[in-house]
Amino acid sequence: MKYYQIDQQLFIKNRKKFMAQMKPKSIAVFNSNDIYPISADSTMAFEQHRDIFYLSGADQEETILLLFPDALDKKHREILFVRETNEHIAVWEGAKLTKEQGTQVSGIETIYWLTDFDKVFFDLMTEAETIYFNTNEHYRQAVQTQTREDRFIEKCKKDYPAHQWSKSNPILQQIRGIKEPEEIALMQQACNITEKGFRRILGFTKPGVWEYEMEAEFLHEFVRNRSKGFAYTPIIAAGNNANVLHYIENNQQLKDGDLILMDLAAEYANYASDMTRTIPANGRFTDRQKAVYNAVLRVKNEATKMLVPGVIWAEYHKEVGHIMTSELLGLGLLDKADVQSENPDWPAYKKYFMHGTSHHIGLDTHDYGELKTPMKPNMVFTVEPGIYIPNEGMGIRLEDDVVIQEKGEPFNLMRNIPIEAEEIEELMNS
Ligand code: GLY
Ligand code: MN
Ligand code: MN
Repeated sequence: MKYYQIDQQLFIKNRKKFMAQMKPKSIAVFNSNDIYPISADSTMAFEQHRDIFYLSGADQEETILLLFPDALDKKHREILFVRETNEHIAVWEGAKLTKEQGTQVSGIETIYWLTDFDKVFFDLMTEAETIYFNTNEHYRQAVQTQTREDRFIEKCKKDYPAHQWSKSNPILQQIRGIKEPEEIALMQQACNITEKGFRRILGFTKPGVWEYEMEAEFLHEFVRNRSKGFAYTPIIAAGNNANVLHYIENNQQLKDGDLILMDLAAEYANYASDMTRTIPANGRFTDRQKAVYNAVLRVKNEATKMLVPGVIWAEYHKEVGHIMTSELLGLGLLDKADVQSENPDWPAYKKYFMHGTSHHIGLDTHDYGELKTPMKPNMVFTVEPGIYIPNEGMGIRLEDDVVIQEKGEPFNLMRNIPIEAEEIEELMNS
């Protein structure tokens, strides 16, 4: 791992919160991700399943976490199963977790080799009545491959048909949505690395530069600061490319007069940051570009203020829609008749701002977190309004990550990343 080891106390706390919500006589099991194949003997880089990471800190393939708060033998209340390592693996793949290291990382006393899992699990299931399965209930999930979790569930249902099943995901959605101070510190670190990348490209960007050259500058800065790289596929979109919301080709050349929308950010220790900035290729906004830019910035600032405990996500989005409508009227992009005759299910502002304003962020960029209940302190949300005008060859989005506070305005984890148009111009021309 490139990141500094995380204090095991975080994972101890996370497990406590999960176990506090388990039914009596129940076991919960969490599996690592597979290493996904490309073809021949090529594989994609390993990415740990965020749930087992959240509960154990184990960042290694073929790992299983088992939680059984009512186990008769105390040492079986928390067990981490790791792949047995040996000299051959050490030579070819590098060191894997030893049993001692498994304890050090996770705070779990009982570490077994993975080969012992079936035997130990059978024994514990004889004491248990319910097994918690970790299905994916994320509101945007669209998984087409069978995961290790899926295979475990399938086998378990066949081998233990008389047990009751329960769901881990609602508990995880609830507890992962509210961040511990250690998690906020890790997210701040991801944002700080993103800031370094952004400051680096402000002096680099000019007409003639290619979008992929900007991508390379960011990646350089991220990796040299102990990040694995981008928290999600980066978008570097010059001119009208910004109007393709998921533009990821990043293969065009910047032209004089273009704005470049950059939606990209670093990860750190598996925690995501998520930033969008829009800058002028030649270092100066035109009056029109600045007018639209400042409208987006005002919406962002107003929306941010609304992220306080008690707010309902869907209601918040409606309010942001009203603010955006008034800005679009001011820019002459909508007129009163458009608004008076609008379809309430697809209000007029959606022509220029067609995506959501905020999502939870954490170990996943679009993180777990409750969306239908009132917002709570220490939830972390993005704020990311945009105005997209293909007819004028520009799309502007601005995005920061903010932490909801007990009282007052949210705390902006990206407060140090330049966003005022004048500051960006100054930095690009200094
Ligand atoms: N970068 C993904 C998003 O802003 O939601
Ligand atoms: Mn986002
Ligand atoms: Mn983003």
